[in-house]
Amino acid sequence: MPPVAYIQDIAQFDGQDVTLRGWLHNRRSSGKIHFLIVRDGTGFIQVVMSKADIGEQLFARADHLTQETAIVVTGRVRADARAKGGFELTGSGFTVVSESVDYPITPKEHGVDYLMDRRHLWIRSQRQQAVLRVRHEVIDAVRDFFNNRGFILADTPIFTPSACEGTTTLFPVQYFEDTTAYLTQSGQLYNEANAMALGKTYCFGPTFRAEKSKTRRHLTEFWMVEPEVAYATLDDAMDLAEHLVESVVARVLDKRRPELAQLERDTSKLETVRTPFPRISYTEAIERLKGAGLPVEWGGDFGGTDETVLSGQFDRPVLVHRYPAAVKAFYMKPDPQQLDLALCVDMLAPEGYGEIIGGGQRLDDYDLLLQRIKDHQLPQEAFEWYLDLRRYGSVPHAGFGMGIERVVGWICGLEHVRETIPYPRLLYRLYP
Ligand code: 4AD
Ligand code: MG
Repeated sequence: MPPVAYIQDIAQFDGQDVTLRGWLHNRRSSGKIHFLIVRDGTGFIQVVMSKADIGEQLFARADHLTQETAIVVTGRVRADARAKGGFELTGSGFTVVSESVDYPITPKEHGVDYLMDRRHLWIRSQRQQAVLRVRHEVIDAVRDFFNNRGFILADTPIFTPSACEGTTTLFPVQYFEDTTAYLTQSGQLYNEANAMALGKTYCFGPTFRAEKSKTRRHLTEFWMVEPEVAYATLDDAMDLAEHLVESVVARVLDKRRPELAQLERDTSKLETVRTPFPRISYTEAIERLKGAGLPVEWGGDFGGTDETVLSGQFDRPVLVHRYPAAVKAFYMKPDPQQLDLALCVDMLAPEGYGEIIGGGQRLDDYDLLLQRIKDHQLPQEAFEWYLDLRRYGSVPHAGFGMGIERVVGWICGLEHVRETIPYPRLLYRLYP
C-alpha cells in the first residue's frame, strides 16, 4: 500500500501514490466515473474513480457507498487548479472500514434544533469544522500572546466556595454530605492572589453562569481567559486588552483564511482591527445612545441593543470605561476623580457583537473592600482569604476576562455563540 498521507499535507505528494484514511463525505456519479468527496479530519479532497482504473467490480461497489462510510482510499495525487484546495486524487482502489447507514445529516437543510440534537455528528460538516479550527487558532493565539509577554499560566479552581460575579447566576453543586460548592463564574479573585505571587499571570478555563436569558450571546458554560497584573492600572488593562484582540485577529487572518472563506466571512471587517482602539467613557456612551434615539438614562447598565448600536458606530472594537459603580461588581476600584464611577472597562466588538471583554482595576483598600463585601451581602468568611491580599502588601492591580466564544462568534461572523464551542450548554440544552 502507498504511504499514508493527510489531506492537509497533500501538496507534498504531488504526482505520487498515497493512501488516505477517512470518511466519505459526498458522492456523485456519472456512468463511467465516481466523484467521491473524502474527508480525513484534516481536509476534504475529491477522488475521481473511473471504471477503467479500478475495475468493474470495485466500481460497482463504489456505487453503493453511503455518506460517512469509513473508507481507506488509494490513488495518485494530481494538481488541479479547479479543485478546492488545488489537488485531486485519481483513485486506484478503496476498502470499506465500516459502514454508515442512514446518516441523519444530509446535504439538505436542517433546522437548528435538529442539528443541535446531533451536534456530535454535525461537527463533521465543513462549516462546523471551519468554526472549530478558528476556535483552535484563537486559543493558540491567546496562549502565545501571554506566554510571549512573560505571563505565567496559573489555573484557578472550578469548585469555589463563593460568588465572583453576583449570586444570581451561581450553579450550586453538592460537595460531599454537607457542603454546597459553586461552579466558578470567573477565576479573577484567585488570579489576584496569583498576581501578588507571580506578578503577571493568567488563567484559562471553563466558567459557568446560570444565565436564564435566551440570547445569541449567552452560554451557561463558556471559556474565559483572564490576565491579572500587579501594579497595573485601568489604562494598563485597556492597553493589554486591545493588543490581545489585535493580535488574535491578526493571527486568524494570517493562518485561517480558508476557514474564513468557507464561512463566507467578510474579512475586510477584520482587517481594520488595529490598535489604538477608540476609548469612550460610559457617560459619553450614554450621550451617543441618546443621540441615536435610544431610551437610556445615566446610571443603568447597557442591554444588548445598546451595545449593538454603540459598537456599530466604530470600525473596530471600542473600549467603554468608567461605568457607574452601582451596576458593577463589588471588587471594582472607585475612580478617585468621581467616586460613583468604577475604574472598569468593557470592550465591545463591532457589527453588533457587543461585549467580548470585561475588566478593570481592583479595589486594593482593605476597609473599602470589606465594606463592599458587606454592602453586597456576601458572606465575609468565604472572602477572608481575599481580604488577606489587602492585609499583606496590597498594591494597585488590574486585569480582565475575555470570553472565547464571543470572540470566535465575532471573528467567524456567526449568528449565535452556540456554534463556537464543540458542545454548547444553554438554558435548554444539556445534550449531547
Ligand atoms: O464581564 P464579565 O462578567 O467579567 C468577569 O467575569 C471578570 N471577573 C473578568 C476579570 O476581570 N477577570 O465576563 C467577562 C467576559 C465577557 O466580556 C464575555 O466575553 C464573557 O466573559 N462572558 C460570556 N460568554 C458567553 N456566555 C456568557 N454567559 C458570558 N458571560 C460572560
Ligand atoms: Mg461584563
